[in-house]
Amino acid sequence: LETGTLSIVVLGASGDLAKKKTFPALFHLYKQELLPPNEVHIFGYARSKISDDELRNKLRSYLVPEKGASPKQLDDVEKFLQLIKYVSGPYDSEDGFRLLDKEISEHEYLKNSKEGSSRRLFYLALPPSVYPSVCKMIKTCCMNKSDLSGWTRVVVEKPFGRDLESAEELSNQIGELFEEPQIYRIDHYLGKELVQNMLVLRFANRFFLPLWNRDNIDNVQIVFREDFGTDGRGGYFDQYGIIRDIIQNHLLQVLCLVAMEKPVSLKPEHIRDEKVKVLESVVPIRDDEVVLGQYEGYRDDPTVPDDSNTPTFATAILRIHNERWEGVPFIMKAGKALNSRKAEIRVQFKDVPGDIFRSKKQGRNEFVIRLQPSEAIYMKFTVKQPGLEMSAVQSELDLSYGQRYQGITIPEAYERLILDTIRGDQQHFVRRDELKASWEIFTPLLHKIDRGELKPIPYKPGSRGPAEADELLEKAGYVQTHGYIWIPPTL
Ligand code: BG6
Repeated sequence: LETGTLSIVVLGASGDLAKKKTFPALFHLYKQELLPPNEVHIFGYARSKISDDELRNKLRSYLVPEKGASPKQLDDVEKFLQLIKYVSGPYDSEDGFRLLDKEISEHEYLKNSKEGSSRRLFYLALPPSVYPSVCKMIKTCCMNKSDLSGWTRVVVEKPFGRDLESAEELSNQIGELFEEPQIYRIDHYLGKELVQNMLVLRFANRFFLPLWNRDNIDNVQIVFREDFGTDGRGGYFDQYGIIRDIIQNHLLQVLCLVAMEKPVSLKPEHIRDEKVKVLESVVPIRDDEVVLGQYEGYRDDPTVPDDSNTPTFATAILRIHNERWEGVPFIMKAGKALNSRKAEIRVQFKDVPGDIFRSKKQGRNEFVIRLQPSEAIYMKFTVKQPGLEMSAVQSELDLSYGQRYQGITIPEAYERLILDTIRGDQQHFVRRDELKASWEIFTPLLHKIDRGELKPIPYKPGSRGPAEADELLEKAGYVQTHGYIWIPPTL
């Protein structure tokens, strides 16, 4: 295990992402003693000229539990806040970063034993437009000083570009400054418990091995729904739209884990090699296999142009051209301002051949992985209706986490991923060639939307989205089960 000083620098320290995700994740790690106070120092860096205490005051309310904090919890928050120091400066001038380096070095000097290492983690909670200049500054002014056991790593967040060309440009700029093992591209869906479980489910269970292919599976849905709109993020969102915000990254990463071949081992490079292969097997998306939507009222946001063509909803069918998946539609669906909030993977199996129970009426077998909320894995299958009659009915085998794993807190995605960056494990991060392949899939479609050649269909906020999307689903072969719904167990 590595020891020595660890300096975590959060750039964009007072921004939304830092306040809502990065600092709370660091705090959780701290509480679990994964960030030992005698080794760790946290730095916030941003442009505004505020004091250490002013930053701490801004962060406090994001760390204190909403409902009645105990004195111990309040005490933990204060101790954690004391680990944070603030440095202010611009994102493109050496002065600020030299000052930052000085602060980090002082801390390293104070805390280091003779052979202690210098570990420096830079978390860019910033808009990507400043990534190149910030990376340049880090490289020029702030690299770790001890060569032997130290390191410098940078963590970047999406959006990594707007299309293939801009993403490649960004990758080149960062790639000139840092080696791939130093770059951690976060896709927080890869930190979710049930996304991480995909590998285990698929490759550690005899059940699934022979079934997981085009002979048995009819279609796969990967779905993200939110029951709120862009909520004050309209300005950002309108530049990107739902495909860049959710599908090209989060849902596509999930698709990789559902569809990839078994990796040679669990080594990060082996896993990522397989993901790239799947992405490279995806054929161009057809216009008639896409339905776009925009919720009514989206343009009322003053930061959104009145004639915005940006989709807030999309269903797109991806097709994988390989031996395992030829002919199986992967239906990617994401939308804002819908009637519910959930994310799930739904694998629907083909009908039973030569059916004698007329179970078709009951619906098909489905294997559902509910990523959130209320994590669960359940299988819909047909059983005899209990009672005197010999009739079939749909039921389920249900592994609901809240019930099965009582008392276990499922870690937040960011918490897990930040820990990985400290440990140097890139398994759950997006490699450069993966990123490129994912942009290759969506760029032609995105350009058509940008040029106004494809238009979103209006839908009512709080609805299922455009009816055309359900029609596309049906056309793709998905058969909805009527009369059965899974009721999550209550504790
Ligand atoms: C972010 C998107 O990446 O993911 C947001 O930019 C979205 O638009 C969020 O709301 C959803 O994350 P989660 O973890 O709540 O599903």
